Amino acid sequence: MLSSKQVEAYHRDGFLVIEGFATAEACADLRRRAVEIVHEWEPSGERTVFTTDEQERASTREFLSSGDTTWCFFEEEAFGPDGALRQPKELSINKIGHATHDLDPTFERFTYTPELAAIAHDLGLVDPLALQSMYIFKQPGIGGEVGCHQDATFLYTDPMSVTGFWFAIEDATLDNGCLWAAPGGHRTAGLRQVFKRAGAMTDDDGTLFEVLDTTPLPRPPDDLVPLPVPAGSLIVLHGLLPHWSGANRSPVSRHAYSVHCISAATDYPAWNWLQRRGAVPLRRLDTVSAP
Ligand code: FE2
Repeated sequence: MLSSKQVEAYHRDGFLVIEGFATAEACADLRRRAVEIVHEWEPSGERTVFTTDEQERASTREFLSSGDTTWCFFEEEAFGPDGALRQPKELSINKIGHATHDLDPTFERFTYTPELAAIAHDLGLVDPLALQSMYIFKQPGIGGEVGCHQDATFLYTDPMSVTGFWFAIEDATLDNGCLWAAPGGHRTAGLRQVFKRAGAMTDDDGTLFEVLDTTPLPRPPDDLVPLPVPAGSLIVLHGLLPHWSGANRSPVSRHAYSVHCISAATDYPAWNWLQRRGAVPLRRLDTVSAP
């Protein structure tokens, strides 16, 4: 799939932009299904009105148990001071995560393709497992900032193997919150911190950050370069590459889909926040998806 120039660029920069990877039809299918999932999703009573404390507790629990489910997460700015949604549910969801690629046939079809498996192979990812997926809405007006981070902080393996495959489902622009990255930043310093479950393996235990390297992350936006791309583009991100995306204050959404893969040949510690509990096994990226 990739030329030696592209492979070289990925190892040099820590990211690779491939325009025209996904067809307009594949993007439209995934978008349609994502909107449908939100439409069908009924937040339980406690989810419609929140106090800040309740929201935090509920968010932690839902987040920590979402490794093998499909869950819809709200935008932080979705709620007014009275705890009620400011806009329709369909325009209030930040993302869908984190096992939808193994639970929904449309997501499965988009994810498990020979083309994506070939790219992972060309970039040197040995036996890639599709660990986690997110459909990110970056809603008009309230789409939240994603702070500068390295993906290996959140999906840690020994040795480091996490690789992000980020698909623009809609055009990603400077106005609606495209990705930004620090070219070569995966080589200039190590993994700054890891995000861990705080205690035993229950979903109420919360999480903590453990610092590994005090080198500051690049400061957005000045230390980063923007990666605006048209719909259908794939951006591959090295697990140590610092990247960021700003808030979306524009009237236009910026839908994206991301899949994070790890190598089956590495160790995935049990303290990672994201865990599968057996019912939904992890699959290799070259698994043939259902028709
Ligand atoms: Fe990321």
